[in-house]
Amino acid sequence: MVSYLRLHFTVNGTPQALRIPANTLLLDLLRDRIGLKGAKVGCSRGVCGACTVLVDGQPVAGCSTFAFQAQGAMVETIEGLARDGALHPVQQAFIDHAALQCGYCTAGMILLAKALLAHDPDPDRATIVEWLSSNVCRCTGYQLIVEAVEDAARRMRQAAQDDPGAEA
Ligand code: FES
Ligand code: FES
Repeated sequence: MVSYLRLHFTVNGTPQALRIPANTLLLDLLRDRIGLKGAKVGCSRGVCGACTVLVDGQPVAGCSTFAFQAQGAMVETIEGLARDGALHPVQQAFIDHAALQCGYCTAGMILLAKALLAHDPDPDRATIVEWLSSNVCRCTGYQLIVEAVEDAARRMRQAAQDDPGAEA
């Protein structure tokens, strides 16, 4: 018999209160119940990173995280990154560097990069490669993704210098 629980959390800044089966996976909740399809279903085994979302700023594999583990947390998905019609600098850098082809890995890569740059605004190349190594891209060869993250880091440092009060 499946037990149910009430989950309170925010998704992209919007409070959610949902009654869910206790064994619901975070990825399924986001995609199938809340309708946010940006996090992708890949390996479903915590290996490829296509399902990456941020929980209180930390990247997690949505396919390997129970929804109840996000109780009280702030969850971010790719749909929540743009502000007032402007893409997040990491999103813009991925476009400018052509750092995507099929796009299946892209939401996870961008969220992973966002978390990295919140943690380390000026990562060296080795750190970026290491950080992104949890996510698989079958198309790009990674070089353009790494360059996009380096450029996003530069842009965000510059923006922080120009407007120290601005939100990253
Ligand atoms: S679908 Fe979650 S890690 Fe691959
Ligand atoms: S762009 Fe196709 S998997 Fe990364």
